[in-house]
Amino acid sequence: MVTQKTLKLTILVIGSGGREHAIVRGLDYFDEAARLYVAPGNGGTLLEPRTENVALTVTDHDAVVAFCQAHDIGLVVVGPEAPLVDGLADSLRAAGIPVFGPGAASARLEGSKAFAKAFMRRHDLPTAAYEEFTAEDAAAAYEFIEARAGRVVVKADGLAAGKGVVVAQSVEEARAAARASFEGAFGASGARVVIEERLEGPECSLLALVDGATMLALPLSQDHKRAHDGDAGPNTGGMGAYSPVPMITARQEAQMTEVMARAVAALVEDGIDYHGVLYGGFMLTEAGPQLLEFNVRFGDPETQVVLPRIRSNLVQLMYATATGTLAQQPALEIDERAAVGVVIASAGYPGSVQTGKPISGLGRAQVLPGVEVYHAATTVSTNEAGVEQVVTTGGRVACVTALADSFEDAREHAYEAARHITFEGSWSRSDIGLRALSQKGE
Ligand code: AMP
Ligand code: GLY
Repeated sequence: MVTQKTLKLTILVIGSGGREHAIVRGLDYFDEAARLYVAPGNGGTLLEPRTENVALTVTDHDAVVAFCQAHDIGLVVVGPEAPLVDGLADSLRAAGIPVFGPGAASARLEGSKAFAKAFMRRHDLPTAAYEEFTAEDAAAAYEFIEARAGRVVVKADGLAAGKGVVVAQSVEEARAAARASFEGAFGASGARVVIEERLEGPECSLLALVDGATMLALPLSQDHKRAHDGDAGPNTGGMGAYSPVPMITARQEAQMTEVMARAVAALVEDGIDYHGVLYGGFMLTEAGPQLLEFNVRFGDPETQVVLPRIRSNLVQLMYATATGTLAQQPALEIDERAAVGVVIASAGYPGSVQTGKPISGLGRAQVLPGVEVYHAATTVSTNEAGVEQVVTTGGRVACVTALADSFEDAREHAYEAARHITFEGSWSRSDIGLRALSQKGE
């Protein structure tokens, strides 16, 4: 339902994952998006009727600005963290182009764990006690670990694609993690490490739109970071997600929202003009919600379950976020249904994977009621017989989201749809959303 003035924006979305496909679908759902470009996009965005994939080098800021000027782009939405940390939003804003995504100064909240923890400490936001160390203070790092009997988490300071965090089970494991980081396991990203106390409790993500001053909290979601059922196996980018999070009590949600509002006030106090999503990763401890991390962009696959539940006009929300006018937006309209999103991955993920595998069943999955199929690592290529087909290009290939009145049904529909989508070596976790069935807050 579009009740407000039509914007008729031409929008450029930066990125190529399932998150970006969900953003494109969400924007396209509201008819203001006169035209959508995605750079570089994926097989799914390529198949969207009003969307065009463009081959831009996003590290070449001048080229991106020139593209925007040549195509009359009225809004750029930056999906992933790397171009934000690299200052793409600053370059676009300097050219007068509205951007959904923060500048490099605040992207350090995600790009540097030491910066984020110092920000949390300085502004008294609840988070685990920590210290930061470099190779020169390795002895002090080991002392910190021993003093806490190894109940610590060792984090490479910089971006490490989710692989730079070790939740240690022993002194030896923690020492080994710190040593490996100092010795270059994560390159420059790990030259500095943050070592913090290990917290206990379930995790929950709160994504909020921030327009420089005003914050608008989006529905809660929960990711499944480990590769295998029962939260076993290595960490991944995320194997599935669900929203809302029934185990979170109204009181806990209010506490998390309050922490995020204080974080936004702290950004303002620090003179940071933040426009985009601020993602708070929380652990619900006995002492209340504690911040584990900030991300400066939408989560993947959290976006694939959060955006389909937003009934308010996403074009207007994103444009208002970019231009500092969120306060004038009507209250957020939320779809009360449950959303469950199941990621379909390639054999070997999160390790190395083979690519170029033809994918079947995408169309059959998409027609099921309440189901959205978001492509991630896909492209469209022509086989030897001259037939166009969708093939894999990486580890997380697609995310199937189902909305339904109950988590039981959402799970059932998501898995029914996911079963249609197959390629050589395809697999998923089988327990996505199960936690939502068994845990209920008061
Ligand atoms: P981060 O990238 O900082 O969010 O860390 C990745 C994951 O490591 C989190 O999602 C948690 O599962 C875990 N983790 C991070 N910090 C802590 C902590 N202080 N205590 C327990 N687990 C943590
Ligand atoms: N799914 C976790 C993230 O996007 O950071």
